[in-house]
Amino acid sequence: MPRTGTQWESRPNLPPTHYVDPRVYTDQSLFEEEREKIFDKVWAIVCHESEVPNAYDYRRCQHMGGKELLVVRGKDMKIRVFYNQCPHRGNVIAFEPSGNAKRLTCIFHLWSFDTKGNCVEITREKEGFQDRLSKKDVGLRAVKSEIDMGGFVWVNVDDDCEPLSEFLGDSIDFLQGELSTAPLEIMCYHKTIVPTNYKLWHDTNRDLYHEFLHRQNRLIAMGQPGYLDRQYHMHVHGHVTADPSVNSYKNIEKGTDIRREMGWPGGEANLHKLLNLFPTVTYNMRPPALRIDTMVPLGPEETIVEFRGYGIKGDSDEVRRERMRDYNSFWGPFGRNLPEDFIAIVGQSIGLNHGRGSPYILHGREEETPHSEVCIRHYFAEWSRMMGRSAADPFNEMPAVAAE
Ligand code: FES
Ligand SMILES: [Fe+2]
Repeated sequence: MPRTGTQWESRPNLPPTHYVDPRVYTDQSLFEEEREKIFDKVWAIVCHESEVPNAYDYRRCQHMGGKELLVVRGKDMKIRVFYNQCPHRGNVIAFEPSGNAKRLTCIFHLWSFDTKGNCVEITREKEGFQDRLSKKDVGLRAVKSEIDMGGFVWVNVDDDCEPLSEFLGDSIDFLQGELSTAPLEIMCYHKTIVPTNYKLWHDTNRDLYHEFLHRQNRLIAMGQPGYLDRQYHMHVHGHVTADPSVNSYKNIEKGTDIRREMGWPGGEANLHKLLNLFPTVTYNMRPPALRIDTMVPLGPEETIVEFRGYGIKGDSDEVRRERMRDYNSFWGPFGRNLPEDFIAIVGQSIGLNHGRGSPYILHGREEETPHSEVCIRHYFAEWSRMMGRSAADPFNEMPAVAAE
């Protein structure tokens, strides 16, 4: 039965943990607070070690809080991360997306830095600074970084942050075999700037109820034995893992000469594994390829979503082609899965802005299956903890909610 305005706006008959105020996806002031309280406090992936494979390689990256970073591999093959900013008058050090240089030289007044971040030359140093300032006073600003979970470059711009292992907790055990048996190598990259909030993309990565949306998922996963027996598992800091699903490609191979038989070292060929890490990272392991999603939120309703596809270092051309073919058929920019997710979340944004102002977004499904929305509730519990606000009532407009 259609609802009146009053009914439409009344609180759902669910606990406040089971719905959120839509302004968590649209409000500018909440977004700015997220930058300070979440983006600048959590560990985030900025790239993979195979994106700087050789000594002296560097790569520009954007931190999710908006900061420009420079990932550099030294002569000692160690990867270090710095702000991409010159200590002289603040110019960026690297303009190109990536390159190889023994010295990182600022174009403005040609101050130079080595791959450890030491300043190695100030042009006309003595003439300008006499003994008042020297090279040793002006190195690059280091950023905390660790290489982990399959060779990814993790950074945290909070100097006082907890170690990465504590941030990840036992969530990393889930993909230990797949990520540690053989070294990974990036094989493709694409990004999209999408007019929605970053959390809508991440919600979609957690939400397995929406597999009805995807024809390919209906064909390969939903009818398989044990599909509904799977469950979500909660980990520290809002991270979640879902029991693997069994995939069978018979239905989509029918009438074609394509056969998907390749596996992944340390994993099982027919198992799809999903690891969602608060607040923006997703590991999507569906042999023969691994997909990693990361995000740079630009505003409450504008987000860069970056997708990286991985194979195994040393793959033959033939094996790499097959991994790429499979990756792209699902997760490439014109694949049969990922663009459908974009339609759904852009649709959510249109609804939030141009609908009739529903005051609640529901995450209320409770069932012992992968269609439970407990995984999204777990996310918003962490969001609420870090923000010091209830996601159901972020502006404390409903005293009853705060008290529950
Ligand atoms: S701003 Fe970099 S050398 Fe002057
Ligand atoms: Fe999806």
